[in-house]
Amino acid sequence: MKTVEKKVVTLNVNGKTYDFLVGDGIHEVSEGETLAVTLRDRLHLTGLKIGCDQGACGSCTVIMDGLAIASCMTLTLDCAGKSITTIEGLADSETGELSGLQQSFVDNCGFQCGF
Ligand code: FES
Repeated sequence: MKTVEKKVVTLNVNGKTYDFLVGDGIHEVSEGETLAVTLRDRLHLTGLKIGCDQGACGSCTVIMDGLAIASCMTLTLDCAGKSITTIEGLADSETGELSGLQQSFVDNCGFQCGF
């Protein structure tokens, strides 16, 4: 019996490394899966929202290697080896204290907008 080796995509999200198998299984990242879906549905990082799902509204914005991107327009497979920060990742990792940006979202009811 021949063993088929699965491809793996590795992401660093909010300082933690995650490996995802690539494929069509329920626990695998498909080739067409967007980063927004991976972050929300697989990692339960629901701070980003899927609003327009067309790259226009900014509610799915995350930071990838220092640049703001629309995660709804970005394939997870294209993020291999990248460093991604979501809104959750801005909090102080030791105390959990909100960052200035997070506090501004709270103060200004900005939860629907990711940017
Ligand atoms: S959901 Fe609107 S830009 Fe991504």
